[in-house]
Amino acid sequence: MRTANEYKELTIKEFTKAADVYESNHSGIYEICKEDYPYISSELEKEDYNELLDCGCGTGPMISLLYEKDSTKHYTGLDITPRMIEVGKSKNLKGVDWIVGDCENLPFEENTFDVVICSNSFHHYPNPQKFFDSVHKVLRPGGRLILQDYTAPKVILWIMNHTEMPLANLIGHGDVAARSLDEIRSFCDNSGLRVEKLKRARKMRMHLVARKVS
Ligand SMILES: C[S@@+](CC[C@H](N)C(=O)[O-])C[C@H]1O[C@@H](n2cnc3c(N)ncnc32)[C@H](O)[C@@H]1O
Repeated sequence: MRTANEYKELTIKEFTKAADVYESNHSGIYEICKEDYPYISSELEKEDYNELLDCGCGTGPMISLLYEKDSTKHYTGLDITPRMIEVGKSKNLKGVDWIVGDCENLPFEENTFDVVICSNSFHHYPNPQKFFDSVHKVLRPGGRLILQDYTAPKVILWIMNHTEMPLANLIGHGDVAARSLDEIRSFCDNSGLRVEKLKRARKMRMHLVARKVS
């Protein structure tokens, strides 16, 4: 077991190396992240919004797609890896805010965003409850969290978290753990977010939509 800071340092090293090729067709294991973007877009289309925060945005591939469709909304991308944010900024998308920060302690006022999205970043968070609490704080009442990450049945998760994740750490990756649907539900309950959709999908995907009710 590593400390929270050690995981975060590994994450920053991992994605500093990946940043310059992240959106290319040569991003290796990160190619799979692209498969989640259509799902997030389709969830977003279900409700209007103006202020969107992308937590663990990387170089901002989702923000680029959304901006291309509608540049009148206000998008904020936040990531812990400074190089990811630099690459995002270099796209020069007018009005988009790019912030280096930690998803476990979001640096925004209460009730700031209509929607928070987070894809393929959550399994890097050593204190997942802090993430949910922080999202609850920055969402406006009625706002939604749309989260995509890995999950699996509990036995498989145990094996993954005790073999694959430590091996990933040994090769310099900052993965911490994939979580079960039960864990996700209790993080939401504890933070005051109401779960509207929570399911496992093919390729070990987890879809969550949760809403701040008050
Ligand atoms: C696999 S990339 C996903 C990027 C993008 N969301 C996507 O789906 O393509 C994971 C990102 O999460 C970021 N990340 C990991 N832990 C973080 C944390 N605690 N706070 C903010 N960003 C974090 C990493 O720096 C990395 O850019």
